[in-house]
Amino acid sequence: MKSQDIRRKYLQFFENRGHLIVPSAPIVLKDDPTLMFNNSGMAQFKEFFLGNGTPKSKRIADTQKCLRVSGKHNDLEDVGFDTYHHTMFEMLGNWSFGDYFKKEALAWAWEFLTEELKIEKDRLYVSVFEGNPDENVPFDQEAFDIWKQYVSEDRIILGNKKDNFWEMGDQGPCGPCSEIHVDLRSEEERAAVSGRDLVNADHPQVVEIWNNVFMEFNRKADKSLEKLPEQHVDTGMGFERLCMAMQDVTSNYDTDVFTPLIAKVEEITGLKYTSNEVKNISEEQNKINIAIRVIVDHVRAVAFAIADGQLPSNTGAGYVIRRILRRAIRYGFTFLNTKEPFINQLVAVLAVQMGEFFPEIKAQQNLVTNVIKEEEASFLRTLDQGLQLLDKVVSETNGKEVSGAKVFELYDTFGFPKDLTALILKEKGYSYNEAEFEAELKKQKDRSRAASEMSTDDWTVLIDGNVETFVGYDQAENDVKITRFRKVDSKKDGILYQIVLDNTPFYPEGGGQVGDKGTLVSANDTIEIIDTKKENNLILHFAKSLPENVNGTFQAKVNTELRDLCASNHSATHLLHQALRTILGTHVEQKGSLVAPNYLRFDFSHFSKVTDEELKQVEDFVNARIQEHLPLIERRSIPFAQAIEEGAMALFGEKYGDNVRAIKFGESMELCGGIHVKNTAEIWYFKIVSEGAVAAGIRRIEAITNSAVKDFFANQENLIAEIKETLKNPQDVMKSVVSLQDENAKLKKQVEQLLKEKAKNLKGELASQLQHINGIDFLAVQVDLDANGAKDLAYELGNNKSNLFAVLATVAEDKPMLTCYVSKELVESKGLNASQVVRELGKYIQGGGGGQPFFATAGGKNPAGVKEALEKAIEFVK
Ligand code: ALA
Repeated sequence: MKSQDIRRKYLQFFENRGHLIVPSAPIVLKDDPTLMFNNSGMAQFKEFFLGNGTPKSKRIADTQKCLRVSGKHNDLEDVGFDTYHHTMFEMLGNWSFGDYFKKEALAWAWEFLTEELKIEKDRLYVSVFEGNPDENVPFDQEAFDIWKQYVSEDRIILGNKKDNFWEMGDQGPCGPCSEIHVDLRSEEERAAVSGRDLVNADHPQVVEIWNNVFMEFNRKADKSLEKLPEQHVDTGMGFERLCMAMQDVTSNYDTDVFTPLIAKVEEITGLKYTSNEVKNISEEQNKINIAIRVIVDHVRAVAFAIADGQLPSNTGAGYVIRRILRRAIRYGFTFLNTKEPFINQLVAVLAVQMGEFFPEIKAQQNLVTNVIKEEEASFLRTLDQGLQLLDKVVSETNGKEVSGAKVFELYDTFGFPKDLTALILKEKGYSYNEAEFEAELKKQKDRSRAASEMSTDDWTVLIDGNVETFVGYDQAENDVKITRFRKVDSKKDGILYQIVLDNTPFYPEGGGQVGDKGTLVSANDTIEIIDTKKENNLILHFAKSLPENVNGTFQAKVNTELRDLCASNHSATHLLHQALRTILGTHVEQKGSLVAPNYLRFDFSHFSKVTDEELKQVEDFVNARIQEHLPLIERRSIPFAQAIEEGAMALFGEKYGDNVRAIKFGESMELCGGIHVKNTAEIWYFKIVSEGAVAAGIRRIEAITNSAVKDFFANQENLIAEIKETLKNPQDVMKSVVSLQDENAKLKKQVEQLLKEKAKNLKGELASQLQHINGIDFLAVQVDLDANGAKDLAYELGNNKSNLFAVLATVAEDKPMLTCYVSKELVESKGLNASQVVRELGKYIQGGGGGQPFFATAGGKNPAGVKEALEKAIEFVK
């Protein structure tokens, strides 16, 4: 059965049993600060388990793109080495929200596997929770009894808390679970060793395929469990593993989810992948297989993350994506000998394979390809630089062991992986100090852990069951009550309180717009709200302290000065989007935005630099819309399909409800939850301040509106006034700047000429100061030149000589520098080494450096040490 058919069959099965089929949520989470990526099917339904919202249906099923590369569930380092772990995988899931429970869930799971897919019953094992007295959770008798109706008791395995109690994270909904495992080994193998003994033992062909979680508890901050008001079912089936079972193979990579990608890698590299059925492969072939698995796995994660709007970058989720891609590039570089970008070519294969269920990959195939290609090219350049640096490190190493700190520096600063470093060093006959490397790594990890440490208390609930309403579209002030609050202690922000209100005018950060600030005021208290964010459908107001009496009524007051500036920038962002699509073309798509009070930032897909002429047109377009005084037309809640039909812009990677809010100014119409001006006239004026590249095919524009434009022009005016004054108020400023430049160029030439003459004179003077010791012409002096001058002079002195050993010291702007020259003949005959000389003498000026045996330099910090360094130079000759 083809993978596409398996997916379809699953969804149909549950649709027939009353489940609503929903699309996969984006792989990158935008409104959940506790989770970077969707790591399980249930993540998008978290709020329903927590009781903060109501699902569209009590029964839902879907296939969810998941990524387990950070946080509690992280499989990254295993991927490639085994045949059944992945970074991105699909999780088939069916859910009951306070509806059916264990009986139906397990019966359907069994029916689907054994009757619908006809997997042999005697290849299946199931597990149930054995209970845990410490947690006060008993043995799951109910699940055990249900299973007994379908399988013999010897196929039911009791599992401990680690295997059979599922938790999403450190806090939140959780419960006992029952897993189904499949044994895909051959008849002989099964006869020899019972599959029962291999369940949960990391055997590649005896794997878990389906987990049925019975969500009954909430894990609190103090680690205790509390019963949830309702019982839910959360299931997850590994799609790729199920395909393995159905396609009669023993590796996920031998299913049609991966074989087309593998075929493409084989075509590009000319190397062959051997399927899991081929035994006794060489060490060499094994390495090739691992590298190919890494690449075909990682490209899926990276491509889907980019399609969902997450570009590779240096921070947060973007950095995780960048690291995954770099891992793939490196495996190609080392084991497949790929020195040019090639992973990007796999995106086309992926688009054909996955496009039916995940249209986002097809729609953005070009963009995804280009971004990956550029990342590949730039990391390959880094690898190249790293190789050169490594050469230098080796040349400066005494002995055969390179310092671990140096290897760490390469890893940390240049992203140069340690196992690659080890491999290259080995080829050169070197090794590195691993303990030292690990110590540096640990230090760095401790530093970042300390910086991100955070503890969250449980909620103190004052008013239960209230569903908070957002009233901020109509009001900036309102009477409110606190319904719950909790304390958060983080290294980064110190102690903060998160406060939830019964209704609120505060806009929570979202859609690019920053969260509102303001105050909560009661008769005897004023509390500053420093930020507002949304988490699991709750609007959290952040404060540094709590009011003395949390039970009274408060006036919630938004800082309208800041909010109005945000509104101005947000509406301008929509007009900018429209302008770009009008002037550059409809290939322009929003790829990110930030709307702050003082500026706006807009990232979009476009293949080349936006020219000055185009930028001017964009600016003019937006300002024309501002001058037209277009009124805001807000449709607060219309069906999604209708909004799209009316021409509203929707974004990839955003999660939209059935009903959406649409914002219209003239011809611009976007789905948007943000705060806007009532009329474009309020924006006053729009000015672009920068344009540049963010990634391949992605440009970024930064712009300002409103009072920021006034400040901008005032600053420009001041700057010009200052320039005039500095130039002593000439009639024509430009003319006077040009004549300054001309004069400067002339003077520069003269100085160069004079310096050359000076060096020539110096040469004559110094030649007479040479000391003749042990057949060497020795010189160690301070010269009044810059570093380049010293180099020229050293070469001049050494010209036509075969026995010169010179150390020249210079001090420029308080920075001492040593330059050492050794005639090539002396290097050979006497073993003198300039590199070693500057390293040793460098100590006196608190510096270091290096170079080659016949020429080397060292810069330092202590000019007072120059004298001693020069005095010691003679010892090398003696
Ligand atoms: N949430 C459960 C899991 O991810 C089904 O295994």
